[in-house]
Amino acid sequence: MPAVNDPTDLPWWRHAVVYQVYIRSFADSDGDGVGDMPGITSRLPYLRDLGVDALWITPFYTSPQRDHGYDVADYRDVDPLFGSLADADAMLARAHELGLKVIVDLVPNHTSDQHVWFQAAIASPPGSPERERYMFRDGAGPDGDEPPNNWPSVFGGAAWTRLTEPDGTPGQWYLHLFDSTQPDLNWRNPEVGDELVDILRFWLDRGVDGFRVDVAHGLFKAEGLPDTVLRDPDEDAPASMVEAAGVDEPMWDQPEVHEVYRRWHEVLAEYDDSEVGPRMAVAESWARTAEAIARYVRPDELHQSFNFHWLSAPWSAEAFAEVVTETLASLAPVGAVPTWVLSNHDVVRHVTRYGGGAQGLARGRAATLAMLTLPGSAYLYQGEELGLAQVDVAPEDRTDPSWFRTKDTAKVDIGRDGCRVPIPWGGDAAPYGFGPAESGDQPWIPQPDDWAGLSVEAQTGAEGSTLEFYREALRLRRTFAETAGTDVEILPGAPDLLVLGRGDVVCVLNAGTAPAALPAEAGELLLSSGDDPDGTLAPDTAAWFRRA
Ligand code: NOJ
Repeated sequence: MPAVNDPTDLPWWRHAVVYQVYIRSFADSDGDGVGDMPGITSRLPYLRDLGVDALWITPFYTSPQRDHGYDVADYRDVDPLFGSLADADAMLARAHELGLKVIVDLVPNHTSDQHVWFQAAIASPPGSPERERYMFRDGAGPDGDEPPNNWPSVFGGAAWTRLTEPDGTPGQWYLHLFDSTQPDLNWRNPEVGDELVDILRFWLDRGVDGFRVDVAHGLFKAEGLPDTVLRDPDEDAPASMVEAAGVDEPMWDQPEVHEVYRRWHEVLAEYDDSEVGPRMAVAESWARTAEAIARYVRPDELHQSFNFHWLSAPWSAEAFAEVVTETLASLAPVGAVPTWVLSNHDVVRHVTRYGGGAQGLARGRAATLAMLTLPGSAYLYQGEELGLAQVDVAPEDRTDPSWFRTKDTAKVDIGRDGCRVPIPWGGDAAPYGFGPAESGDQPWIPQPDDWAGLSVEAQTGAEGSTLEFYREALRLRRTFAETAGTDVEILPGAPDLLVLGRGDVVCVLNAGTAPAALPAEAGELLLSSGDDPDGTLAPDTAAWFRRA
């Protein structure tokens, strides 16, 4: 009998607040302008005091950093840019000492082109076992000089690159759904699946509490690699990960992928009784529908899947209510807990998405409070607790492969650097405590010159600051998250009000333009994201109440 995700059991991940650490931009211990593992360790007390339960760390493995770590050259080591394996062990030990869980990123869809497997593949002839680990194909057209099919890369341009064979002749093509330095693995080759299980065990044995599975809806490609239907014949790339999820395509969400997650489930379950406790995995699955996403969290598959629907919803009480209802309805049949997320390292920060400035910030705080009401896990992205907005990164400072691949095309994608700017910890000028005080220089992406007031130092203890608001929200959430159950009521309210009831907590969010009367259920005020309500709730504000 395979182990299953038991909905009556309450392991930590079923109601956790998980803080995403984008390692390059979190804390720099050695002054080279790039965040690192000892930097994370030094800031763990900050995360404990913030009140999160876990951190998810983006890839820190050996990598040429063409996609900032999502191009892994060695899955079992730490890139010297970030430290060493010993630093990773020390971070893990310290996190556990402080009661924090640690989720690491796993990248199974592709490796770096510098991975030993890919290097062996390009040094070996077509048809060799080395090539069978990746997706090599002969080209189309009489001379084989056209890509094998019409698939676009998520980062722009074609998803195929042609090799020059060791003897200098033009050779086979290889598939890369992302950058050309990220060749896709051939998941129909059992060696690939075995290797990934081995990597899982490597990190489980070191004591990690879970995995965030990159491109979990990728891996298998439809047999025969049929052409896809391109959205617009003049455009060959989706503008974003969000848009990439919008259509049925032969490269995503193939049924075979679920066998992989059944196998991983069993591997993780073997560790349930270990000293570290139950382990989990959360899928980054941009599958098309809520039902398709729910398939990744069936009882014998992964434990959670990111739910990007709130993140892509407009500022609207109706839209938010719909996201909540649909999310819960889609997960009910499989008994999985929902997840909620407003920002991550791939999307425009939500303060900016909600219009920027004071209004964007107010809305961002309100949406956060509403999200934190809900059952399941909430994923926060570093810097959102400071109210950081998207930064307009100058073209010469951009580093994202999607920028390089599209900057000279009709469909320019400026990339994701603007949400990845290093965190301001304190001080008056860059690097705002991100690196050692004496470093004085700008980090790998320049920080804006008006960030002093947003730093952790500046906001700590400051009344009404976004940081103190997050701390209080997380403190209060701890008083009900575990015990309030998984039911959510969408209660009636004035137009433009989102009214959520969970246990004895009621959250009211005003997405309208005028103050709105509070619903009858709103009893004692617990916390407001803006001005305290006084019979009415101001626009762009949410508040928690004890249910009357
Ligand atoms: C999703 C990750 O979140 C993103 O940052 C990365 O570029 C792609 N997967 C490719 O690994």
